[in-house]
Amino acid sequence: SRLVVLASGSGSNLQALLDAPDLAPEIALVASDRAGATALERAARAGIATSCVPFRGSEDRDAWAEELGEAVAAAAPDLVVLAGFMRVLPPPFVRRWPMFNVHPSLLPAFPGARAVEAALEWGVKVSGATVHFVDEEVDHGPIVAQEAVPVTPDDDAASLHARIQTVEHRLLPAAVRLHAEGRLRSEGRRVHVVD
Ligand code: GRF
Repeated sequence: SRLVVLASGSGSNLQALLDAPDLAPEIALVASDRAGATALERAARAGIATSCVPFRGSEDRDAWAEELGEAVAAAAPDLVVLAGFMRVLPPPFVRRWPMFNVHPSLLPAFPGARAVEAALEWGVKVSGATVHFVDEEVDHGPIVAQEAVPVTPDDDAASLHARIQTVEHRLLPAAVRLHAEGRLRSEGRRVHVVD
């Protein structure tokens, strides 16, 4: 089975997939909306094909997504993973392939790009990481995997995000593996793991 990873930034979640010892799917392509994304360097270093389709502004979103979609389609993925991909994809794109997103909170708490900061500002004592199927609303689709981490009194956004990312790096490869093994069953919004 084949995987396409979309990433805008550092790509530590991509690295977790690259480093997963027994990850069944092959990573066929890493694509980005940002030419400078470290994720692209990590992919190149691992000998994986890369593609960059720079985002040119919201008024151009549909044409941009069309172009990105062509690159993804050429890689023929069974699953697309948004691993720190910071752009909203239009509905036709998200409907085209099964798609995971990794989010640094316990959804449905704190959707959006400032999830870690928002959790700290709210004063929650527990936050966490979520892997979910992507649907047409941002940070909204059916939850595949979720794990809590404590928020400590001396946390800032960097320290809390680091603690959450440690969990992400374990949850994401595990979820990708389950998908590749055909072990995820959906019942409404509920996703079950079967043997
Ligand atoms: C992760 O924390 C993920 O939850 C969020 O963006 C971050 C990406 O980190 N969507 P990285 O690029 O994988 O290091």
